[in-house]
Amino acid sequence: MSKTEKRVLVTGGFGFIGSHLVEQLLEDEGNLVHVVDDLSSSPISVDRYVAQLPNRERLSWDIRTVKDYFSRDGLPSHDEVFHLANVVGPVGVLQHAGDIVRKTVEDTYAIADFAAATGARVCDVSTSEVYGGGRDGYCSENDSMIITPKTSVRLEYAMAKLACEVALMNQAISRELHVVVIRPFNVAGPRQSARGGFVLPRFLLQALRGEDITVYGDGKMIRAFTHVSDVADGIIRALRRGKPGHVYNIGNPANRTSILHLAEEVVRLSGSKSKIVFVDPKKLWGPLFEEANDKYPDSDRATNDLGWKPKHGLEETIADALRYIRSEEQLPPVN
Ligand SMILES: NC(=O)c1ccc[n+]([C@@H]2O[C@H](COP(=O)([O-])OP(=O)(O)OC[C@H]3O[C@@H](n4cnc5c(N)ncnc54)[C@H](O)[C@@H]3O)[C@@H](O)[C@H]2O)c1
Repeated sequence: MSKTEKRVLVTGGFGFIGSHLVEQLLEDEGNLVHVVDDLSSSPISVDRYVAQLPNRERLSWDIRTVKDYFSRDGLPSHDEVFHLANVVGPVGVLQHAGDIVRKTVEDTYAIADFAAATGARVCDVSTSEVYGGGRDGYCSENDSMIITPKTSVRLEYAMAKLACEVALMNQAISRELHVVVIRPFNVAGPRQSARGGFVLPRFLLQALRGEDITVYGDGKMIRAFTHVSDVADGIIRALRRGKPGHVYNIGNPANRTSILHLAEEVVRLSGSKSKIVFVDPKKLWGPLFEEANDKYPDSDRATNDLGWKPKHGLEETIADALRYIRSEEQLPPVN
């Protein structure tokens, strides 16, 4: 390893966002990347993924949990840690009800302790769910967090992420950790699996199979879908250019849309004849399911501090995800 090389650790690096992050990190020959992922919700086949990576000799990995990894003696040093491993997804989280806070907090503390002992810089990938609604959906880093009185698994996920943010921000001062937090907004694009309950791959699969497209509630919920490669770029910029102890929204305000409009765009871009229908998600997923509040970001801080500018519009984001799902699921174009 030369003096200019960086040893980079990515937890959850075989996940949807993590796999794009690893690809971008490997584009820079100065990075040696190590992934820790237990494959509990990975959407990829690791062998196939690694085989198509141009600089794969610079990648190594451990298939194990974050907790396992950091409990080992004699860990190698890492200059940077990108922490993405977590349970995730509106449906994906349901099976972990009551255990999300414990897992999320334990893993984050393990990383903070490692960083305090070694001086590694940390980027914690949190979530825009911490806003709990913002101002009619508008979410700025300067806004107060809103904790709803309604208990749900989604709330447990948001609270766990927020607890970690606050602890890390305090440790940035008390232990002088170099830590930044990012809050991604509705990440979408290639490799996102419908398994976690994410809306875009779900709509795309329904459209390609000619099934009804099921919009939850009245479909008026506001989201800002952000292309996964823009998010990966934002994560790297945050760690390398962000101010320690700061939080950054990583979301594309230009892609603000209602869920109903997203469904209409999916029908249009896929050429599907599927009908759009409205359903009650609690009937599908049970009483612990909760729809997210409206949310779209103010991303000025990321633009000003990090020079982050998302490059992919909504149509391109849908089209990229569509191409991926068509090839993965081997679904033919619909006439
Ligand atoms: N997808 C989104 O829209 C979105 C939005 C905001 C925040 N996030 C955050 O981004 C991060 C990545 O999300 P994603 O959408 O790529 O999800 P993902 O499920 O595709 O990726 C998570 C990866 O982490 C692994 N993993 C989970 N728990 C682990 C553990 N304890 N130890 C080791 N590996 C573990 C999984 O196998 C998976 O490969 C998460 O922290 C999530 O909270 C995602």
